[in-house]
Amino acid sequence: MSSDIFLNDKQLKTLDKKLQSIIRKTGLDRKTQAEVFDKKTLLTIEKLISNRVLDIIDFPISTGKEGNVFRGVTTENKLVAVKIYRISTSTFKHITQYIFGDPRFKSIHKTRQNIIYAWTKKEFKNLERLNKIGVKAPKPIISYNNVLVMQYLGEKNKSAPMLKDVKIENPEEIYESLIGSIKKMYQKADLVHGDISEYNILYYRSKPYIIDLGQGVLNKHPNAQEFLKRDINNLVRYFKKYGIKANVEKIFDNIIK
Ligand SMILES: Nc1ncnc2c1ncn2[C@@H]1O[C@H](COP(=O)(O)OP(=O)(O)OP(=O)(O)O)[C@@H](O)[C@H]1O
Ligand SMILES: [Mg+2]
Repeated sequence: MSSDIFLNDKQLKTLDKKLQSIIRKTGLDRKTQAEVFDKKTLLTIEKLISNRVLDIIDFPISTGKEGNVFRGVTTENKLVAVKIYRISTSTFKHITQYIFGDPRFKSIHKTRQNIIYAWTKKEFKNLERLNKIGVKAPKPIISYNNVLVMQYLGEKNKSAPMLKDVKIENPEEIYESLIGSIKKMYQKADLVHGDISEYNILYYRSKPYIIDLGQGVLNKHPNAQEFLKRDINNLVRYFKKYGIKANVEKIFDNIIK
């Protein structure tokens, strides 16, 4: 792949044009579009298309500072979510504390590009772990460089809402299920999410799905317990508005025991 990066202007133009028809409607302004779809990312997407993973990138679901999520369609006509981390302009201020405490990524060279590729792979692996132990999260399909393709959560024309944007009828049940999930993650997958909140939980077919696993760390990580407590705290804080009372310390002790 690395040698492919040296394209001349003409080759790049041709590739860009070809991808214009695949990336139907990015809905992004030109500057953002150029930032997200830089040369390497275009090549990565082309590879996913020529390897028959992706057929089309439909439209953006979310535009963030570090990454963009698009709806995509596979060659088998399945809907997928395509998360693209920005290589050039991402603001991964705290990224190192999540990557360098993780023995799975001990040997990466610390260039920005490699760190972002490792981050993408880490999200893929963490999603795999969650699915293996039966915690609801998008099923990962492939991670390649800075692009992660995963199960799309949502209906045909509307992606699943974040927990913060829905009014749930059975808060007690959803809360218990989420606490159960972070317990299971810690005890059965040795994993702490590290950024659990009503923003990183999607409400899909009446069930909470945990997303955004890039910063997830193994429970051996030096800050794992601190992150776990913060995750519990975020859930407890959020569910307070539904009248649910809980003791963060007690839950924490019960999980790490
Ligand atoms: N598998 C999925 N199916 C449907 N929508 C998704 C999926 N994954 C992510 N999204 C949508 O994209 C949004 C951003 O995803 P995610 O939280 O993983 O990225 P992020 O790193 O937080 O991005 P940001 O830079 O905006 O913080 C989610 O809130 C959700 O709306
Ligand atoms: Mg998020």
